[in-house]
Amino acid sequence: MRTEVMPVNAASLAWAASFLCAGEVVAFPTETVYGLGADAANADAVAKIFAAKDRPADNPLIVHIAELEALGKLVTRVSSRARALMEAFWPGPLTLLFERTQAVPDIVSAGLSTVAVRMPDHQAALALIRETGRPIAAPSANRSGRPSPTLARHVLADMQGRIPLILDGGPAGYGVESTVLDLAGDIPTVLRPGGVTVEMLRQVLPGVRVDEAVLSPLRDGAAAKSPGMKHRHYAPKAQVTVVRGDMDAVQVKASGLYDTLAAEGEKPVVLCAAARAAAYEDRDTYVLGEAAADMTAHLFDALRALDEQGATHIIAEAVEAEGMGLALMNRLLRAADFDVVDA
Ligand code: TXA
Ligand code: MG
Repeated sequence: MRTEVMPVNAASLAWAASFLCAGEVVAFPTETVYGLGADAANADAVAKIFAAKDRPADNPLIVHIAELEALGKLVTRVSSRARALMEAFWPGPLTLLFERTQAVPDIVSAGLSTVAVRMPDHQAALALIRETGRPIAAPSANRSGRPSPTLARHVLADMQGRIPLILDGGPAGYGVESTVLDLAGDIPTVLRPGGVTVEMLRQVLPGVRVDEAVLSPLRDGAAAKSPGMKHRHYAPKAQVTVVRGDMDAVQVKASGLYDTLAAEGEKPVVLCAAARAAAYEDRDTYVLGEAAADMTAHLFDALRALDEQGATHIIAEAVEAEGMGLALMNRLLRAADFDVVDA
């Protein structure tokens, strides 16, 4: 199959919509990361998403809508808590879990009784959904286990020959996937942190908590509330180690690790904030950005770029796990497969 990459415009949106309506999959930009979309009501089309990504069948997809009215067909009930969150944060990078109706095929929800829904805050994504006139199931448009794509060329690198069309809308703004919030229990629980931060959620629902699997590996035998949490994720080819602790101690520890690896003939790189790079002197560093939001936006591109440069080890400085820093640490720890060194 030939994979076309087209800039977003009226003609490419119409073409993408015609593919989706014909049961094909198409990659498109959102404000978080690029998505790989299919008609959510068409089980055969959704199966093509799983095939293109090599995605495990037990990992459910997010359904994307452009109007609130579309929710009614997908979910059995919208609680007052969900309504308050939707009012505050939709369109935006917040995915909510609802009990699903028969209109949602089993394959979308990987057999769970719930369905994840979000309304993206991105003109091209909204226009595409409206043009198809139907909800669009879309995971991130990477091959399973690879960093999520934040640029059209990341999608092409993973999907060339596997899908007919990629809409290029430039860099995805947030650079990490949406916040996933579970409202089923008494206490609303963040299963995956993202652009709508825990602090923002607590302004609407003060009781929101963060699932322990966000910053720790699942204990053996524990059930993943969000199946995506149990799969290795965001993994570059290089081995990632996160160094955590007092910032001066982190620099000493990370430098020591670096020097040992370099002496063994490896190609280590320190991943850090702009203000931290100088302390590493002539060691190779890769600057993610200045503040947490900026650093988060560049993480996935950095992981792919460092692979291309042939880095064998990425030594990443930990950041404060608050605000956007929580999403950054969640993705870093998964990229590292929880290889954390305390300085
Ligand atoms: O920002 C995003 O959310 C992007 C863009 C394209 O919208 N999409 C995305 O999809 O990141 P994906 O499939 O890569 O991640 C969806 C996450 C997975 O961790 C999955 O396990 C979880 O949401 N999820 C989906 N449906 C669920 C459900 N019914 N219950 C629990 N977790 C669910
Ligand atoms: Mg994904």
